[in-house]
Amino acid sequence: MSYTPDDVEFLATHATDITAAAATLELTKKSQLRDAAALKDRFGEHGRAVSELLHARRSGKLPAHWLMDHDSAQQATPPAVAAYRARFLREQGVRLVHDLTCSIGTEGQAFKPGEYVGSDLDASRVAMARHNIEHPVFRADALTTTTSAQVCIADPARRAGGNRITKLDQLLPPLPALIDAHPSLAIKCAPGIDHSEWAGLASVVSVDGGVKETCLYTPDLSAGLDKRAVVIRHGHTDVIDSDVPEGELPEAGPVGRFVIDPDGAIVRAGLVRHFAAREGLHQLDPRIAYLTGERLPAGTSGFEFIEEVPMRKLKAAMAAHDVGSLEILVRGQDVDPDQLRKKLKLKGSTAKTLVITRIGSQGVALLCGPRVVSSEGNYAP
Ligand SMILES: C[S@@+](CC[C@H](N)C(=O)[O-])C[C@H]1O[C@@H](n2cnc3c(N)ncnc32)[C@H](O)[C@@H]1O
Repeated sequence: MSYTPDDVEFLATHATDITAAAATLELTKKSQLRDAAALKDRFGEHGRAVSELLHARRSGKLPAHWLMDHDSAQQATPPAVAAYRARFLREQGVRLVHDLTCSIGTEGQAFKPGEYVGSDLDASRVAMARHNIEHPVFRADALTTTTSAQVCIADPARRAGGNRITKLDQLLPPLPALIDAHPSLAIKCAPGIDHSEWAGLASVVSVDGGVKETCLYTPDLSAGLDKRAVVIRHGHTDVIDSDVPEGELPEAGPVGRFVIDPDGAIVRAGLVRHFAAREGLHQLDPRIAYLTGERLPAGTSGFEFIEEVPMRKLKAAMAAHDVGSLEILVRGQDVDPDQLRKKLKLKGSTAKTLVITRIGSQGVALLCGPRVVSSEGNYAP
């Protein structure tokens, strides 16, 4: 439930009391009713808002002193992703950004004073953002022009009343209307958005293995690229671009020493071959995103190939290799890993990996060692 502007005012002016109250509560799912009653006793009609604030803060995603409600905390861009966007825009020479859907100000924390202005339609969110960040924040409809900022950021809401919105013209605000209203835009979209027709840059970003967003940049901000994958792991950022000429992209080929499942940002950006070209790898099949080669690139993990096993002989192979636990990866085949694991009735003592995929029209099962981390570079995947 969102707050009234009066709730926000109360939360902002009772910060010390709220922190003190939090220290006396369990704040678990089990203690929810008990905590709510204690907060009602202490804060009266604002008890519900205090309870929601304390639960929203528990995600740990945002600074501990920030005002947020359940929905705004859920919708907040991960700070590492906002920081990358701010850096990218600075690299494009952007000096002032207007965040048209600033919510509680998450993107703002990535910008220095004077670089950022935020606005939102929701009065309570505007009030929370004013409390949370030092930048100017005001109430406005994203479809109007209210500043002379060089570039706008927009992050349309993808849920309304608890339901997911999938149609781009029904996002809040609608994507086509935003594009019509603002010539220079960075639009944060769902990771799975179809960006094949987008005329600018589609930048797919993951953090620690989870794909967080696809950001669409208008052509003036595209740095001459159409696709980019941004892989952020443990604070280290790797960028894979669509700038390798088609003739230099590797053809699919035989299984090498390692099998690698590339990061989801690389797969969703359509840059598997570009990553392979950079790292001296190749695909097993031109339509499947698994890679193979003689090394594990820095910041990745993968599986050392042991042998190809016919699907019919999997059980015997598991026994022969003394397999007791099995990570199963499937791509391009209709196999349920949990059901298969049950069927194999593993009884051995070693950990292995099974990569089930397709090469040409043939289904294949590649038995590999357990997941190993690259020894290259100085950061772990
Ligand atoms: C997904 S949230 C933005 C989250 C934000 N980027 C963050 O990281 O915290 C979408 C925001 O768009 C706002 N919104 C919806 N329609 C709007 C409109 N027409 N004009 C301005 N803001 C709007 C909502 O109030 C909500 O705060």
